Amino acid sequence: MTSIQVRPAEPRDHADVAILHHREWGGPYVVVHDTRYDLRELPTLVAVDGAGEFAGALVHRLADDGLEVVSLAATSPGIGAGSALLAAAEAVALAAGADRLWLVTTNDNLSALRFYQRRGLRIVAVDAGAVDRARRLKPTIPYVGEDDIPLHDELLLERRLETTAGPRRSGLPG
Ligand SMILES: CC(C)(COP(=O)(O)OP(=O)(O)OC[C@H]1O[C@@H](n2cnc3c(N)ncnc32)[C@H](O)[C@@H]1OP(=O)(O)O)[C@@H](O)C(=O)NCCC(=O)NCCS
Repeated sequence: MTSIQVRPAEPRDHADVAILHHREWGGPYVVVHDTRYDLRELPTLVAVDGAGEFAGALVHRLADDGLEVVSLAATSPGIGAGSALLAAAEAVALAAGADRLWLVTTNDNLSALRFYQRRGLRIVAVDAGAVDRARRLKPTIPYVGEDDIPLHDELLLERRLETTAGPRRSGLPG
């Protein structure tokens, strides 16, 4: 597997990131959990392969409820960019003291569900019809997704992070 390095995006990456987001999401806007994000306004990590070529990008948002991975995409699947970016996002979350990394994917995205679950994320909620609602905000969202699966629902996945502060007090004695 090619060695992948991850670093914060720099101005020289903007064109590569824009092309990738256009390929994956039709442009810089995504609608998830009834929220419209402009990916250009959020912190971005980029993956670079051993030859120095752009290999993928992860866009995230830190808030009180943890680090949300708003977008993750690799230029070519299976060369390790997604794994490296997800690990780097976890490091960002931990450095910020967040105890949770989470994201939303769609019911058709079986390869992403495989990818995330193999990396320790759990499916913690299903929002039936969320993509149908999102389509009202972003009419270009297709009706049929990967593998010709009708696209309707959002799945929320999360991974609890071990912070150096240790587990939070449960409030129980002992
Ligand atoms: C899902 C995605 C981010 C994963 O990134 P990636 O760079 O392909 O991830 P990696 O190379 O680190 O690992 C991919 C896994 O799939 C395997 N794989 C091999 N060939 C593959 C292929 N052609 N397509 C997908 N996965 C492949 C890898 O071996 C690895 O398997 P493992 O879990 O056994 O280690 C990427 O495929 C992608 O950009 N998908 C489209 C955008 C998307 O759906 N993003 C997620 C939205 S929430």
